[in-house]
Amino acid sequence: MSNVKTFTQSEIAPLNSLDEWEEDVLKRYPEQEAPAKAKEAFRNYETPVRDTVREFYKLNHTYQTFDFVQDKRKEFLSFGKREMPVWDAFQFLNQLVDDSDPDTDLDQFQHLLQTSEAIRADGHPDWMVLVGLMHDMGKVLCLFGEPQWAVVGDTFPVGCGHSEKVVYPEFFALNPDSNDPVYKAELGIYKAHCGLRNVTMSWGHDEYVYQMMKNSLPEPGLYMLRYHSFYAWHREGAYDYLLDDHDRDMLKWVKLFNPYDLYSKNPEPPDWTKLKPYYVGLVNQYLPPTLKF
Ligand SMILES: [Fe+2]
Ligand SMILES: [Fe+2]
Repeated sequence: MSNVKTFTQSEIAPLNSLDEWEEDVLKRYPEQEAPAKAKEAFRNYETPVRDTVREFYKLNHTYQTFDFVQDKRKEFLSFGKREMPVWDAFQFLNQLVDDSDPDTDLDQFQHLLQTSEAIRADGHPDWMVLVGLMHDMGKVLCLFGEPQWAVVGDTFPVGCGHSEKVVYPEFFALNPDSNDPVYKAELGIYKAHCGLRNVTMSWGHDEYVYQMMKNSLPEPGLYMLRYHSFYAWHREGAYDYLLDDHDRDMLKWVKLFNPYDLYSKNPEPPDWTKLKPYYVGLVNQYLPPTLKF
């Protein structure tokens, strides 16, 4: 029996919208690392938008303990909540609307389509186009009432020490695992170079969509899904002591995917009517007719 904590509304939704997290990631990793742009991002550091992100990470780093993740895995990875045709699932995901800025922001499906279209335009394999299309499907967790910090945000390993290279590392002092004699050690419950497949990550939309798709895509695509928010690894090179050769080999794929996620956002919505035949074919080729949630 788990003692499930109840969260207040402000703890469940510290951000005005999920997009605030991604906008913050974009400030951290601007497309061209031009000095002027980096400076601008730095100046924005103390804006009110930034404060909601700060509060978001405080909650994320406080409550994402090893036990919390185990509870969520038990709750969601049996996929017994709902089953729907793939295209209905996108409509379901789109119920996640951004209240803060309904006029200018693209909906979730448009972000997915812009990501997949950018991948397709560069001539990458069709399974990678599908990764672009599906990579944020796990955000439906929010529609099941999950707190924002248990759906999005940079991910990190649990059950071992927290790297200083995870964003806002100071908030890990609030995490009970930081006082656990086993979990607080650098390797924690893991063996050196055990491979990420043996490491439990903080809970969120990456792991959820990976588990949903794990029988449908080639290995590099699965790495893209599972670790796309693990910035401390794919951008900062942290946690080397947990990696095995396979992870090191797969890193290039995770890195290849990341710019399409971060930098493909365009105010112009894609022309779905034109694109539909291609995507219906793509989904039919790789995915079962229905998705389980
Ligand atoms: Fe994502
Ligand atoms: Fe995304």
